[in-house]
Amino acid sequence: MILDTRRFFLQKAGLTGLSTIFALKSAQAMEGCDFSQTPVQPLGPFYPSSFGLDTDVDLTKINNHSARASGKLVIVSGVVQDDLCRPIQGAIVEIWQACHTGKYNHPSDTSDNFLDPDFQYYGTMKTNEKGEYLFKTIKPGSYQANETWIRPPHIHYKVSLRGYQELITQLYFGGDSLNQRDRILQELSGADQRKVVVNFDRREINGEDVLSGVFDITLKSV
Ligand SMILES: [Fe+2]
Repeated sequence: MILDTRRFFLQKAGLTGLSTIFALKSAQAMEGCDFSQTPVQPLGPFYPSSFGLDTDVDLTKINNHSARASGKLVIVSGVVQDDLCRPIQGAIVEIWQACHTGKYNHPSDTSDNFLDPDFQYYGTMKTNEKGEYLFKTIKPGSYQANETWIRPPHIHYKVSLRGYQELITQLYFGGDSLNQRDRILQELSGADQRKVVVNFDRREINGEDVLSGVFDITLKSV
């Protein structure tokens, strides 16, 4: 029997009312297939050096914590597909990011920003039979990369599966003025920037104000 993994992880994220987001996004993926790979972006210094016990799709809640992470709720979902736009089942999608203050839970982050103890800084899941993934998180804060450079809010991605080239990239939030001055994002062509800058819509889900965005990912075969 094929498990309904979509329902399973929506339930895990407390998001059973979100099936329409998947239907919408799957249609977009079919129509918008452009056969080009998602742009690569640097891994950065803050890929987790160790993993907590809770690495599920809901980064706003940690096991055993009653409080949820501070910050603006974000739902990001998408389809992982190959370069012929066929969905890839079983791809391992990992995300990591700063909390709402712009602080990473990593020894290399030496900033004085407050570390939110209720935020799960990393999450991972496998795509379902339709190539879909979804995470519930919060909008990361911007942070000072050096004295003259502030990184805009972004979410790091690593997507992998045997038989495909591992993809490391970063997702940005459309409309953020810091995007235009970010040295990493601006290394991409305009067309490639549009693939990693996601326009988030405001929605009310289960009585909460949520930013909802779609980030589809294309992997190249090995
Ligand atoms: Fe980062």
